[in-house]
Amino acid sequence: MTNSVRSIVRRFPGVPTLEGAGVRLRRSFSNNEVPLFDPFLLLDRFGSADPADYLAGFPWHPHRGIETVTYVLEGRVEHGDTLGNSGVIGAGDVQWMNSGSGIIHQEMPQRTESPLSGFQLWVNLPAAEKMSSPAYRGLGAADLPVVRADTGAEVRVVAGVHGSVEGPVRGIPVDPSYLDVRLTPEELFESPVPSGYTVFAHAIDGAGSADGDDIRPIAPGETVLFGAGGPVRLRAGDRGMRFLLVSGRPLHEPVAWYGPIVMNTPAQLTEAVRELRSGAFVKDPRPVVEE
Ligand code: FE2
Repeated sequence: MTNSVRSIVRRFPGVPTLEGAGVRLRRSFSNNEVPLFDPFLLLDRFGSADPADYLAGFPWHPHRGIETVTYVLEGRVEHGDTLGNSGVIGAGDVQWMNSGSGIIHQEMPQRTESPLSGFQLWVNLPAAEKMSSPAYRGLGAADLPVVRADTGAEVRVVAGVHGSVEGPVRGIPVDPSYLDVRLTPEELFESPVPSGYTVFAHAIDGAGSADGDDIRPIAPGETVLFGAGGPVRLRAGDRGMRFLLVSGRPLHEPVAWYGPIVMNTPAQLTEAVRELRSGAFVKDPRPVVEE
């Protein structure tokens, strides 16, 4: 049974949420869902055609103990940190940031000719690596390989492997796969997922359905969590489907969560807050930038 095609076990329509300094977004899952998505902590889908929904942005805030993965589909997000790093995450770009022991940064969506659209995923760090050195990985759209199948499917590989193509984000502790998949109408897609790994899909556009027990269509904006098993199999509906497919190795460690800081024990959170107040939060003089 362990290698049977996975079924959908839970569905998350996304909850309208006001985040940062007043950004309207939809939160697919977060601290209420721990440990269902282990090693993933949070998925936000941001975006709007109305700049008033996002221009307030995410001004200066700290992170510790996690990786934040920002994937911009349309528009642009400027970022900077207290140590002098800055840049732009544009359409098709990914920023994979390891906050490690601590970083204070801001993420500010900009007004452009197109609507804003994108995702932020939080990936947990193992206990042993929560106080590691911070690091940025900035991937331009051109850095992300696209695998095109004869059937019409297009798969952008951010992390993990699709077919024989490996994504550029490597060496992440929880061995994640992060795919952006476009299927033509009625097309069937299958992706192997190691047994014991957590896997979910988020429908960006169009609709589709998964093999297994629960074959109700997956609606645009919906996140579906798959149960135990092997591969994931999805079939696009009659208008095609674009979705994120994300998997990773669960950590099975305790989670202590305070806003943008996720550690293992309440004492570690108390320590983080104390250090924020005293100015001792940022440990590393300068995070590594891997462009
Ligand atoms: Fe952040």
